[in-house]
Amino acid sequence: MAVVSTEMRDRVAIVWIDNPPVNALSQAVRAGLLSAVEELDGNSEVSAVVLACKGRTFIAGADIREFDKPPMEPHLPDVIARIEAASKPWIAALHGTALGGGFEVALGCHYRVADPRAKVGLPEVHLGLIPGAGGTVRLPRLTPVANAVQMVSGGRPVGATEPLAQGIFDSVAQSSDELLDAALTLARQTAGKPAPAGLSGRDPIEPPDEAGWSKLIEAVRSKARGQLSPVEAALAVRDAAELPVDKAFAGERDRFVKLRATDQSKALRHVFFAERQTAKVPAIDGIEPRAVNKCGVIGGGTMGAGIAACLLLAGLAVTLIERDGETVDFALKRVGGLLDASHKRGLVNDAGLAAMKDALGGSTDYAALADCDLVIEAVFEDMNIKREVFARLDQVTRPDAVLATNTSYLDVNEIASAIADPKRVLGLHFFSPAHVMKLVEVIATDTVSADVLATGFALAKRLRKTPVLARVCDGFIGNRILTAYRKQCDYMLEDGALPADIDSAMRQWGMPMGLFEMADMAGLDIGWAMRKRQAATRDPAERYVRIADKLCEMGRFGQKTGAGWYTYDEGSREPKPDPIVEQIIVEESRERGITREKFSAEQIQARILDAMVSEGKKILDEGIAQRASDIDMVMILGYGFPRWRGGPMFMAERFKG
Ligand code: 3HC
Ligand code: NAI
Repeated sequence: MAVVSTEMRDRVAIVWIDNPPVNALSQAVRAGLLSAVEELDGNSEVSAVVLACKGRTFIAGADIREFDKPPMEPHLPDVIARIEAASKPWIAALHGTALGGGFEVALGCHYRVADPRAKVGLPEVHLGLIPGAGGTVRLPRLTPVANAVQMVSGGRPVGATEPLAQGIFDSVAQSSDELLDAALTLARQTAGKPAPAGLSGRDPIEPPDEAGWSKLIEAVRSKARGQLSPVEAALAVRDAAELPVDKAFAGERDRFVKLRATDQSKALRHVFFAERQTAKVPAIDGIEPRAVNKCGVIGGGTMGAGIAACLLLAGLAVTLIERDGETVDFALKRVGGLLDASHKRGLVNDAGLAAMKDALGGSTDYAALADCDLVIEAVFEDMNIKREVFARLDQVTRPDAVLATNTSYLDVNEIASAIADPKRVLGLHFFSPAHVMKLVEVIATDTVSADVLATGFALAKRLRKTPVLARVCDGFIGNRILTAYRKQCDYMLEDGALPADIDSAMRQWGMPMGLFEMADMAGLDIGWAMRKRQAATRDPAERYVRIADKLCEMGRFGQKTGAGWYTYDEGSREPKPDPIVEQIIVEESRERGITREKFSAEQIQARILDAMVSEGKKILDEGIAQRASDIDMVMILGYGFPRWRGGPMFMAERFKG
């Protein structure tokens, strides 16, 4: 079956692209399009052309898999230029997601008709690139330049009714079924007329002045946190608005080709495929997950409330169990608050919010879970309490109900052994805030059945999260690496660094915040309690840094007490370095007989990366993670590791030796 074919409807030709799964612009598609335009231009029976795609979407962009191979003719910019120069009008019929090169093809057409649910966008920045086939030049001639900067440097696709889509579509069909008819109608209206001038022949719309440009580009730079492509994208649009069009096309291509060869783009392409790889688990391939509609959540604290909100937002019913009437009320209010916030942000409409609130119930009685398909436990991090909860679940839940724990560190095998049939127990480790964070570690116990594991993956997907498989160990993938990272930071404190040195080095590296700022936000008391519990079993030969314990002994638990690693003014979250903390640290080094030495930002970054990588390698060797790229995804999605660096394991592989 040809990837590009032509069908005649009266005097209108429909050029169909059929290249599953997403109609990417492979060499065969580009060649097919080029021959179609040549042939139809020479065919006097044809008066207009509709370009449409089979399957779930219009063209979703260049074929990313071809980026590491030598470029093959015909090149996309030439194909698009040829469509723009066609003697007959070309009308793009857009459905699904017209992205990157796909949207650029549509910009080369003379008209654009959209399915009401279609989205268009230039997401190349997420691959460390900018559009390479005229997108930065044609878009600001269709929509105001400031909109184009936003679309190209932000990469977010926009729907037909969004204000940002102003000017992009010539018409929007009434429904998805009517898209082709709407495009054919427009084609008939234009039939017989010569194709109008293409976008590259027009002037840019409302270009900003010098001050406007500085503001736009500075805003993009500060948001990019070290990533190159968003800034390059904005600069390319500026060139497009100010230079002659040929120079702008050449400049865009030049930036694209240079960016494609950067480490950042290679890293982001790795992440693109890594993110899609995590759900590929041979053990559950072809296994049917269990049906999940009614869920239970035990514990409505920070995590339980977030998990409940997340389940409700995905259309599931939730019964929340707490310890007493007061904690039930508090938890329900908390969940309601999270739903209200989603409603306020426009993520849920009035009817949706009402339905979600109806689907939420609370109780102190575990019997309320009798008809649940799946229960997620999120009570205190204490093995005895968790085992007790699971023993109760064993008595009240259906024998086929899936039981999950959200534990951060505890042994899920031991928790599962509290159940007569441990095959139905697994770990589902969410990240805080649970209704926002994209990562879920799915923890496979030694006894879990394949369909229960498949249910964990299916649920994560339904919640629009990225599931990563981990086996049981202390902290699974992410928290185990976090522990190694934290230890390394503690060692550096004793060896000569201060919290602000480390935090600032990690921000420069591209992390949203440093470890000590993060600890102050989360609260130091939880880690302190854990260290006290572990004290009896700790290897006395292991290097142990006491600084955090000393802060906790002073009641410095972080932001909530106004002081932790930093101090905070009343009502402020702005961390301020504190001379008392510095004094404690310096004193500790002296007591340990360590001569303090200054660390550069690069040294701090290198020590942290080494710590992450060596723990990551152990995790792989022990079979805790399936593959190195899964570890990268955990660190990126769960811990703010900069996406454009590709993850610790990618970096270790790329820069080894
Ligand atoms: N090239 C090659 N493969 C692609 C691809 C692309 N552009 N887009 C998606 N795929 C593959 C995926 O890897 C996946 O393969 P797998 O089944 O083997 O894992 C398969 O297609 C399906 O993709 P998804 O699982 O992501 O499917 P969804 O339905 O969830 O999402 C989508 C569809 C929104 C189109 C999403 O795939 C997407 O965002 N794709 C990338 C879009 C993009 O970045 N386009 C720009 C490319 S760069 C470019 O065009 C440069 C130009 O300016 C010259
Ligand atoms: P939390 O202290 O905020 O909430 C725990 C809730 O459980 C409280 O509301 C408490 O009343 C309730 N609870 C305690 N025992 C109960 C019982 N027997 N029956 C019913 N309810 C009971 O704790 P948080 O932070 O929500 O943590 C919960 C679990 O999630 C822990 O295992 C933790 O390790 C894990 N976790 C925490 C993350 C975080 O960032 N806070 C991230 C990922 C996992």
